[in-house]
Amino acid sequence: MEHMMAIVMAAGHGKRMKSNRPKVLHTVCGKPMIDRVVAAAQDATGNKPVVVVGVGRESIMEHLGDRADFAVQAEQKGTGHAVMMAEPYLSGKSGYAVVLAGDMPLLMADTLRQLYAMCKEERLDAVVLTSEPDDPTGYGRVIRDTTGSILRIVEEKDANQEEKAIREVNSSVYCFRIESLLRCLGQLSCDNAQGEYYLTDCIAMLAATGRVGGLLVDAQQCSGVNDKAQLAAAEAIMRRRINHGYLVGGVIMMDPDHTYIEDGAVIGQDTILYPGCHIRGKSAIGADCVIESGTVIDGSTVGDRCHIRDSVIMDSTVGNDVTIGPFAYLRPATVVEDGVHIGDFVETKKARIGEGTKLPHLTYVGDADVGAHCNIACGTIFANYDGLKKYQTTVGDGVFIGCNVNLVAPCTVGDGAYVAAGTTVVGEVPAGALSVGRSQQYIKEDWADEKRKKGALREVY
Ligand code: UD1
Ligand code: CA
Repeated sequence: MEHMMAIVMAAGHGKRMKSNRPKVLHTVCGKPMIDRVVAAAQDATGNKPVVVVGVGRESIMEHLGDRADFAVQAEQKGTGHAVMMAEPYLSGKSGYAVVLAGDMPLLMADTLRQLYAMCKEERLDAVVLTSEPDDPTGYGRVIRDTTGSILRIVEEKDANQEEKAIREVNSSVYCFRIESLLRCLGQLSCDNAQGEYYLTDCIAMLAATGRVGGLLVDAQQCSGVNDKAQLAAAEAIMRRRINHGYLVGGVIMMDPDHTYIEDGAVIGQDTILYPGCHIRGKSAIGADCVIESGTVIDGSTVGDRCHIRDSVIMDSTVGNDVTIGPFAYLRPATVVEDGVHIGDFVETKKARIGEGTKLPHLTYVGDADVGAHCNIACGTIFANYDGLKKYQTTVGDGVFIGCNVNLVAPCTVGDGAYVAAGTTVVGEVPAGALSVGRSQQYIKEDWADEKRKKGALREVY
């Protein structure tokens, strides 16, 4: 059986990243680079890739879990040595192995498929993915003969002036016939400027004894990330790529370069995204919504025709025709039903807000079930915590809660009840009742005017 697999080299230091985190765990548009590379490899080969790990291997292995198989390269003795570590996964197999680096987040699965198809259809021993970047400095150069066939790859450090002038470079992505690769790995030496086992030497060996091809693609896809400037550049390219997908899918963006969407989100037609909004995780936003600047929607579902301004929504569900913000904070497990209005400086957590209910301003609703068509006025607090435990509050349908009310949980307000402004509710307010809990108002006629006459209070004007 013809086997098809991928080997991802990710054992290097990545010193230029200047980070305590392994290089390939740095994220591009919300996903670690290695996730993107492993996904492309899996997609193109239909098999779990083998990831060669070394520096920071514990965290990379823990992060990837069963999405990959692993080969450990304890000491980094070069790219050829890295692939040798994966030999146990290659030996005895016949077919093709794609080899790529873990720091190439922009590489597309389709390109790997093309590389494989070329290797197989043209019956080659290997195909090298090449590109022509504006500045080839630092890369291995591709040496071709007068007929254009690839002869070998020469590393920058081993290259002479003439070779350095070549613009076509090795991207460090290959497809090998497994038998051919295994034969060469056994013959690699480290007799070169860096004292490393170069995987590139396999190309020279195979060119001498068999047939090698080259696939030239755009330099952008081949760009590796070595430092944080390149990380930012990759992020910008990936953002454009992701946003383009949403734009042609019918989403409106005022400024696609400043709209931050992680792939995996679903966004409906004619929804408008203002610059500076972030859609993260597995979020789904319906059609005809307006999502204004500064809004963060993370792991949440939002229905159709919602208008959200400068608000944060985490792991929550929002229905249709809802208005939120500015400056609202919906914390995990909030369920907002259709037609709700949540205004400025409202915070919710583990709460259901029933259909058509209004929370216009300055309210905290935690551990609560609030019915439909309620009005919860300014400054109301659901006091859910006694310093030790959290308690639940239930508010029925059609309830009117005045300003500055404390609902001390556990408590219940029945359907259609009224709670007067300033009340602290404890226990139960029956359906249809009024709850007033504040001290009697006291009026002393002329008190202020008399003080003023004595000069003991400031004048009105
Ligand atoms: C390599 C190629 C060079 C190519 C360049 C593209 C060789 C000898 N040279 O350069 O022709 O133009 O990539 O970026 O292959 N790695 C390991 N173990 C090691 C060494 C490296 O896993 O012992 C991994 C790194 O983590 C990295 C990848 O291999 O993901 C490439 O290594 P890097 O050092 O960046 O490439 P060069 O050897 O400089
Ligand atoms: Ca590199």
